[in-house]
Amino acid sequence: MDLSKETVKDSVNLLEVNNLNIRFYSNGREMKAVNGVSFDIKKGETFGFVGESGCGKSTTSRAIIRLLAENARVPDGEILYNGTDILKLSQEKLRKIRGKEIGMIFQEPMTALNPVLTIKKQMYEQFLGTGMTAKEKEEKAVEMLRLVGIPSPEKRLKEYIHQFSGGMRQRAMIAITLAANPKLLIADEPTTALDVTIQDQIIKLINKIKKQMGMSVLLITHDLGVVSQMCDRVAVMYAGYFVETADTLTLFSKPRHPYTKGLIDALPSTEKKNSSLMPIKGTTPSLSELPDGCPFGPRCPYCQEKCTLELPEMAEVEPGHMVRCHFSDKLIGASGLISIEDGEKQ
Ligand SMILES: Nc1ncnc2c1ncn2[C@@H]1O[C@H](COP(=O)(O)OP(=O)(O)OP(=O)(O)O)[C@@H](O)[C@H]1O
Ligand code: SF4
Ligand SMILES: [Mg+2]
Repeated sequence: MDLSKETVKDSVNLLEVNNLNIRFYSNGREMKAVNGVSFDIKKGETFGFVGESGCGKSTTSRAIIRLLAENARVPDGEILYNGTDILKLSQEKLRKIRGKEIGMIFQEPMTALNPVLTIKKQMYEQFLGTGMTAKEKEEKAVEMLRLVGIPSPEKRLKEYIHQFSGGMRQRAMIAITLAANPKLLIADEPTTALDVTIQDQIIKLINKIKKQMGMSVLLITHDLGVVSQMCDRVAVMYAGYFVETADTLTLFSKPRHPYTKGLIDALPSTEKKNSSLMPIKGTTPSLSELPDGCPFGPRCPYCQEKCTLELPEMAEVEPGHMVRCHFSDKLIGASGLISIEDGEKQ
């Protein structure tokens, strides 16, 4: 784990999400996919979402650029980008922000890039409305491909995405996304589909570009190793809820939620590095039938009667460290310092 990373402090919020709730409706059922999520991302900061499949990471991040599925509704919440609520923007104003101010890279570049347009054409779309001359566009496009490490960029610009290998496609998508100079980059599992060496290159690349361009990043991942290499702060999600948020070092060294603790304890290596989330006993609850009390209750080894009756609120356990657990004051440390009267130890 990279313990040397400094937390970005006292910086201005670029993004502020307050009490975001997202519902999906299908087959007459309501699914509570995102529940009361609040967080902020400061300028120049990398904020991570981590959690098991289906916990709402992509849904939350897609809401930020209003790319939700047709059957989604947002009954509550605000998403303030530089103080303006994205949920209330007209389509015209939204177009000015999406892709330009806020860029998004996806796990699978083939679904995000257009197979019938050259890389150059797709890159040039990012320059629309900038007033750049043809020469400036060409120079910038070449520079972006070079920045992401694509060899012979002048030649590669004229090619189509199917002519690129997996790692190169991911790099091309990053180059196209970053060509617009976004202030916020949302990276949804940008490395999951890639082999470990290329994963490492892409992580270093995003970190490098982030520093060069002074960008903020929202990183979504299953991989706690990637979190430790990239994130300043992290939110752990479970069943559509944030259950713990902290700076990365605190989260790894002093997790206070049993779910976070379970994820960290389940990591196979002592280094806790390069390790994907391991399954914790039990399954996540159905989003259409969430329990009344704590959503993690059915899987929690420390579950008490109160947990089955009352949903715990997110509460600050120390400055900047929030936990959603009735007994978070008793759950300290990554190595088993847990004791709740009558609670069974993991
Ligand atoms: N259009 C939809 N209609 C109904 N349910 C949906 C829809 N899109 C997503 N969901 C459900 O919402 C929940 C959250 O999905 P989301 O894609 O945000 O999860 P995730 O945390 O990104 O998971 P993964 O790690 O697998 O990408 C899941 O249970 C998913 O099945
Ligand atoms: S509130 Fe109770 S069930 Fe939920 S995580 Fe805390 S101890 Fe476990
Ligand atoms: Mg996802």
